[in-house]
Amino acid sequence: MKDQVVVIGAGVMGRGIAYVSALGGYNVSLVDVSSEVLQNAQVEMDKNFDKGIVRGKLTKKEAEEAKQRLNFVTNVEEVATEANLIIEAVPEKRELKKNIFETIDAIAPADCVLATNTSTMSPTELGSYTNRPSSVIAMHFFNPVHKMPLVEIVRGLETSDHTVQVVEEAANKMGKETVLVNEFPGFVTSRISCLVGNEAFHMLQEGVATAEDIDKAIKLGLNYPMGPLELADLVGLDARLNNLHYLHSQLGEKYRPAPLLEKYVKSGRLGRKSGIGVYDYREKK
Ligand SMILES: NC(=O)c1ccc[n+]([C@@H]2O[C@H](COP(=O)([O-])OP(=O)(O)OC[C@H]3O[C@@H](n4cnc5c(N)ncnc54)[C@H](O)[C@@H]3O)[C@@H](O)[C@H]2O)c1
Repeated sequence: MKDQVVVIGAGVMGRGIAYVSALGGYNVSLVDVSSEVLQNAQVEMDKNFDKGIVRGKLTKKEAEEAKQRLNFVTNVEEVATEANLIIEAVPEKRELKKNIFETIDAIAPADCVLATNTSTMSPTELGSYTNRPSSVIAMHFFNPVHKMPLVEIVRGLETSDHTVQVVEEAANKMGKETVLVNEFPGFVTSRISCLVGNEAFHMLQEGVATAEDIDKAIKLGLNYPMGPLELADLVGLDARLNNLHYLHSQLGEKYRPAPLLEKYVKSGRLGRKSGIGVYDYREKK
């Protein structure tokens, strides 16, 4: 693949994808509707470059070169016309993603691959909003992107072998391992993670154990690196609830969101990003 990557959405995921893309040698344009978000993204990415140097993961020269390859813009039309790979990372809302795919399909070069970082949505459906469904695919990165080694690649009904090959190579250049999944709601990872996380909320609601002990049991007894409740706080309880609503609609009763999760989201307890979720992070700030 040639070397122009455009990442749309500079939130939690988009800034991480831009960071690993720049380190992978790509010229990267990170796009967001908000210039404030772009500024925050740049500050956070700079901190990650610094931490990477301190921890010996990259040299000062590599960090400087990667920074030079990064460009921050508010208008996708300025950069999509030159792109070889576009990775969409805007919030999980159908209308929003539909709009983005229609827009980029109209302006990106004919051989540009269009990828989505969706957690649950259908790349087949997103492909149907374009005139190039064979070039549409999901590249599902994990949070935090610079630390998590996997990209789950999800091929839609019409996705070509060539498109799969392009994104596998790109993910490898970004330092990631890949798995290839045929599209089905929740792929592999969201389907399992949502089920386990929802069950943990049911247990908390039933008073089976404290949040700390549920997480400790799963970490030390089942050898998970994080407990399901602390992971839900990291993902964002609103994002988790959205995913569960979608999986419930597609896969049935076993994904009905736990009432306690619904209650937390209604009260504004959204996890780390709001300072409080299952756990309270406000004092640790
Ligand atoms: N957060 C996670 O742990 C996680 C993990 C894997 C996948 N995902 C998926 O990644 C996607 C993004 O999630 P996130 O957590 O980074 O969201 P986020 O809310 O942190 O960031 C989304 C960004 O998109 C921007 N945006 C909105 N409309 C836009 C537009 N039209 N053009 C350009 N930018 C626009 C917003 O300003 C925001 O900065 C979602 O599909 C989500 O399901 C999230």
